[in-house]
Order: sequence, then structure tokens, then C-alpha cells
Amino acid sequence: MTKPLESFMAPQDLTLEETCELLELAKELKKDPIRRDLYGKTLAMIFFNQSLRTRMSFDIAMNQLGGHASILDIGAGTWDLEHRDDVVMDGSASEHIREAARVTSRYADAIALRAFPKYDTNWEENRRELIHNGFIREGTVPLINMESPLHHPCQGLADILTIHEKLGPPKQVPIVISWGWHMKPLPMAVTDSIFVEAAKHGMEVRLAHPEGWELDPEITATAETLASQAGGSVKVYNDLDEALPGARAVYFKSWGSLRNYGNPQKEMAEALAHREKWHLTMDHMRRTDKGIFMHCLPARRGVEVAAEVFEDPCNATTDEAENRLHVQKALLLKMLG
Ligand code: CP
Repeated sequence: MTKPLESFMAPQDLTLEETCELLELAKELKKDPIRRDLYGKTLAMIFFNQSLRTRMSFDIAMNQLGGHASILDIGAGTWDLEHRDDVVMDGSASEHIREAARVTSRYADAIALRAFPKYDTNWEENRRELIHNGFIREGTVPLINMESPLHHPCQGLADILTIHEKLGPPKQVPIVISWGWHMKPLPMAVTDSIFVEAAKHGMEVRLAHPEGWELDPEITATAETLASQAGGSVKVYNDLDEALPGARAVYFKSWGSLRNYGNPQKEMAEALAHREKWHLTMDHMRRTDKGIFMHCLPARRGVEVAAEVFEDPCNATTDEAENRLHVQKALLLKMLG
């Protein structure tokens, strides 16, 4: 690592060279998993939302490196936290993130934080990532983003490691990153992170979604800049069938549109028109060039993706989930080792 990493909020916090160095360490740790480098060190894991993979993989990562994870579920076993400034705290929150960040920093050597928003809120406010930035500002130890409104960078690292392992060097390899229909509007952080990570690695990125489901313009601009620096490309498709031929990977993930943000009923009504066309089946996968199927999980079978895709050898989702453990161990060693 060419500079100390004080916080890891987004894929663009690491250069391509730094990311590749981290992936090499992750591969070493995958072969030789048990180390004592973090003996006596504690990672405070703070969850404002539920989790299976993130929670288990970070907890086990600290254990396998000789350290310890202390896990807080906000509002369930610990106090509800307020993040807004200049409010009288006479609601459900008993504590402010300012105190929580200061105190947690006295106990732990790093903080890992998950706080992604509900769709019935305000995107312009959410995209400022106030909870994460509050912890970075008030805390005195490194912060790792376990999912924020804009990014899920550890998922992005695990995904790009999976692509390296299954497809070889990713430069100019075609990947479809596609929206899928879902019964409720989901966060877009996972899509943002694989989009930026794939662009950083110079992949031929085909972003597929119906008209109206464009990503945040800042994310698109970042991906386009990184793609041109790395010799890759970004192209948007409004027809999934047009994007698939020749693809080596299909990353399928639903997200709620920005134009209806704050109004889930309107979003669900408009998304319904795309239910059949944007539901991934083996028929779609057969139109790729022996493409792998990728998804961050959790996924509802039969909603975004047909159950047959999960049962086909093209399914790489369990490998992506396993790789969360290896890339996060590499990240923890770089930040705390
Ligand atoms: N992919 C992922 O972050 O899974 P969890 O939400 O279960 O942690």
C-alpha cells in the first residue's frame, strides 16, 4: 500500500495498483488463512441494518487474524442513535453519533459501519452519507464502510477478486451490470461499487437498465473517468437482450430509481411494467459467452432471478460471498496490521 488507508468508503479510495496489491494478499490469505497479526486488536462493527455475509465475514476475519470483533446492532441491544445536528433529541434516539463515535474510538482500533437508507427518505440528503461522515469526523480510528447510501466497497473487492479467479485478468472483459425487477425498491450501493470497480479494472462495462433507472450522475462520471484511464469502456443499454451477447459475466441487482426516490408506491407501480423483461433466466445466460452469474446476495429466488440460475454451474454467488472473507482480511491487515 503506497499510503496509509485511514478510511475505506468507496472503490475509488484505492488506486488500481493498490487494489491489485490487496487482491494478491487476499489470495495468499485464502491459501493460508490463520494469522496472529491482529492479536489484541478490536474491530467495532456497527449495524444500522441487517446482514448475514458482512456480519459473519468480518467477525470471522478478525478471529482468523488473532483479533476480536465487538458487534453493535443499533436500536436492538444498544441505543438508537441520532445523526442530525441542531435537533432536540426528544425522539427515540437516546444518543448522538458524535458521542458514539468518540466513545467507540476509545475502545476499538477501527470502526466498521453499515448504514444504508430506506427508499421513503430524501436522496439529496442520503447521498451526503451523513452517518458515515459523522463517524469519520468524530471518530479517531480508521473507518471501514460495510455499506452506505452510495457504496458497498468490500462487496466490490470480493466481486472483482471472483472475476480475477474465474475469468483471468479483467481488462477489456465484457461484463453486464444489470437492473432487475424487485417487489420493493432496493439500495443502489452494490451496483455503484461493482460499476466503479469494474471500470477501474478496465473492463468493458455494459450497464443495463430500463429508462429512468439511471445511477447517481457522480457515480457514472467516476466510472467513466476510471474506465478511460484503465483502457476500458462504459456503455449504457436500455435493453437487456442487446447487452448480453459475448458477455463473460452478468451482475444482476435491483435498485430503486432516483426519480421516484421518497415515493415507494409510485416506484413499485412503474417498475411493474418491467417485471417480465428484467427477470434473469437461463435463457438470458445462454446468450452470453459462457458468462458467470453474479449477485451480492441476499436474493429472493423467482423475483429478480429465476431459481434455475442459482442451480446452474454459472452461479458464482457463493464464491463472491466467500471472497468477502479473504478481501476483508487483506483490508484489515493493511489498515491495522
Ligand atoms: N452482500 C451482503 O452485503 O450481504 P449481507 O447484507 O447479508 O451482509
